Amino acid sequence: MKQESEKKPQARRREFLKQGSALGGLAAIAGVPGLARAQSSGPVKLGLMLPATGTFAQLGSAIENGLKLAIDEKGGKLGGREVEYFKVDDESDPAKATDNVNRLVTRDKVDVLIGTVHSGVALAMVKVAKDTNTILLIPNAGADAATGPLCAPNVFRTSFANSQTGYPMGKVMAERGIKTAVTISWKYAAGEESVAGFKDAFTRGGGKVLKELWLPFPNVEFQPLLTEIAALKPDAVYTFFAGAGAVKFLKDYQAAGLKGRIPLYGSGFLTDGVLEAVGDAAEGVETTLHYADSLDTPKDKTFRLAYVKAYKTQPDVYAVQGYDTGLLLAQAFDKTKGGVDKPALIRAMETATVDSPRGAWHFSKAHNPVQDMYLRKVVGKQNRVVNIAIKQLDYPPADRCKMSS
Ligand code: PHB
Repeated sequence: MKQESEKKPQARRREFLKQGSALGGLAAIAGVPGLARAQSSGPVKLGLMLPATGTFAQLGSAIENGLKLAIDEKGGKLGGREVEYFKVDDESDPAKATDNVNRLVTRDKVDVLIGTVHSGVALAMVKVAKDTNTILLIPNAGADAATGPLCAPNVFRTSFANSQTGYPMGKVMAERGIKTAVTISWKYAAGEESVAGFKDAFTRGGGKVLKELWLPFPNVEFQPLLTEIAALKPDAVYTFFAGAGAVKFLKDYQAAGLKGRIPLYGSGFLTDGVLEAVGDAAEGVETTLHYADSLDTPKDKTFRLAYVKAYKTQPDVYAVQGYDTGLLLAQAFDKTKGGVDKPALIRAMETATVDSPRGAWHFSKAHNPVQDMYLRKVVGKQNRVVNIAIKQLDYPPADRCKMSS
């Protein structure tokens, strides 16, 4: 028999849906106690695999806060059932990822897997989710492949694809008449794909990338590369860094005397969740992202007030992604009335519109959000909206995912 991951996507989807229905049906007819119980009573088990330590620790905590806020707003329940959380610190370490995710699936037998921040870790989660037919919701990691060539009926992303956040910045910079750029980032999926998305739009608009500079993740020895940027004298710099790495990069860019001399741009992770820590090093930096601090919509205002009340700190894009994961689960479990029948949950999610603080969004055929991408500018401690850079962006093209619907 073929391994699950070797089968054609269509066949896999058919089998996935068949298995789910057959199990549900058998349980109902035969009254199989374990299966029947899993469908309708006891707590819904959510497996959270997020970083609690390392470069992305703060991002993991914001996602968890956001998720729990949305579920707490539903009385701590999903579809009327209590929720039980199972947690693993993934340390943003791809080498430990398979063991970590197996703990949640095999030991804890969670109904839904939620994770994670780091793209390399998320790809290991995708593999285990596919091999074990477990529903996976990705609340950050942008690895394009998760909703591209590796897409699956049971894998959904509530955040973004890495290249989706870089593409709008390339468009904006080219439209401004910027002719040359140097890129600098970590050399792993997130950095490479963010830069690729940027480059796609920037070069289409007539821009030229003079050089791509790279560091291994999570290295923050920026100095030699900043010296190289000064020597190359591009019109602008495009970057992907996030979390503690973004804080250090912004400070080093200023300390190297480049701030104000060579304009710095990036996907919005460069300036999200870091403004308290960077002083004035980020002031004026423009980025593109699917959220901003000053959207001022009724939904965003209510969310921000509730978040500050619950956690005594301002929310950021990661908190929104966690919150939206909770909103999505609440919507899906309401539809199934608390049932964990996979085909029903999948259908409910595929047809959902999430009324998010970032603006309403829905899933593409590949299960990645189709959403507005904002141009933002740092003013004080806020990522202020400048305008919508691209409306309802579905990128990278969903046809890289061969999943029949
Ligand atoms: C990723 O690894 O996909 C990643 C990590 C941190 C971010 C964004 C993307 O802020």
